[in-house]
Amino acid sequence: MSSQSNAVFARPSQVITDTYGPKHVAIIMDGNGRWAKARGRPRLSGHHAGARRVRQIVESCPSLGIDYLTIFAFSTENWKRTQTEVAGLMNLFRRYILKEMNALNMADVRVLFVGDRIKLDPKLVTLMSELEALTAQNNGVNLTIAINYGGRDEVARATRKLAEDVASHRLSPSEVDENTLARYLDTHVLPDPDLVIRTSGEARISNFLLWQSAYSEYEFVDTLWPDFTVAELKRLCQSYFFRERRYGAIAT
Ligand code: FPP
Repeated sequence: MSSQSNAVFARPSQVITDTYGPKHVAIIMDGNGRWAKARGRPRLSGHHAGARRVRQIVESCPSLGIDYLTIFAFSTENWKRTQTEVAGLMNLFRRYILKEMNALNMADVRVLFVGDRIKLDPKLVTLMSELEALTAQNNGVNLTIAINYGGRDEVARATRKLAEDVASHRLSPSEVDENTLARYLDTHVLPDPDLVIRTSGEARISNFLLWQSAYSEYEFVDTLWPDFTVAELKRLCQSYFFRERRYGAIAT
């Protein structure tokens, strides 16, 4: 692990949204390609800039009162991109883990990966498992990174496991309800997201946390992901404070 960085995370300053801000923020990090194109650079340089932004946003979570941060790094549909871009992204994830492993651990961040690992390079999967194991006992920010993740795929995989348990009589059909199914999802240890943010001006959810975001608040911002600042995240957290979440009930 000689390529690990010894850089430490910035210390959190005062917590600004302690009780009423979103506890779980999920982000669709979109716009890396356009960011690179606007600078006449290859798309991969946008992804590298995006990875640098991930560090700043993770660092900012304690001061914003965010306990859970979930980021969409690679979807089940992203395999349709060119082989060069896919390979570049996989290499970036590998380098990110090696470079950030120590800093994440020292910052008390607990890392979890969601998504189907079956299609990923076994070496990357090993690194992902190592980072999860290293940080498993941490109690700070819960960082969840979605790689080869798709909401529909997650529900289908969960249903398959559930059906196997029914077939082998470990579970009875009468026990199957929303809570039971949720226990089979990749995200079963996480609360549902309070706030889902998508950058880059696109207003769609692209198969991200379909089940979990049933009652999440959404924010779509024009900023391209590599330009998304902590100040903008803070503004969105503060604006969440003024939303009334009714979960289907009537307004008070
Ligand atoms: C979408 O932008 C972005 C992705 C598919 C990749 C997201 C990956 C990162 C931010 C890299 C860092 C992540 C980690 C965890 C190290 P796009 O390429 O679709 O942008 P475009 O719509 O402008 O083309």
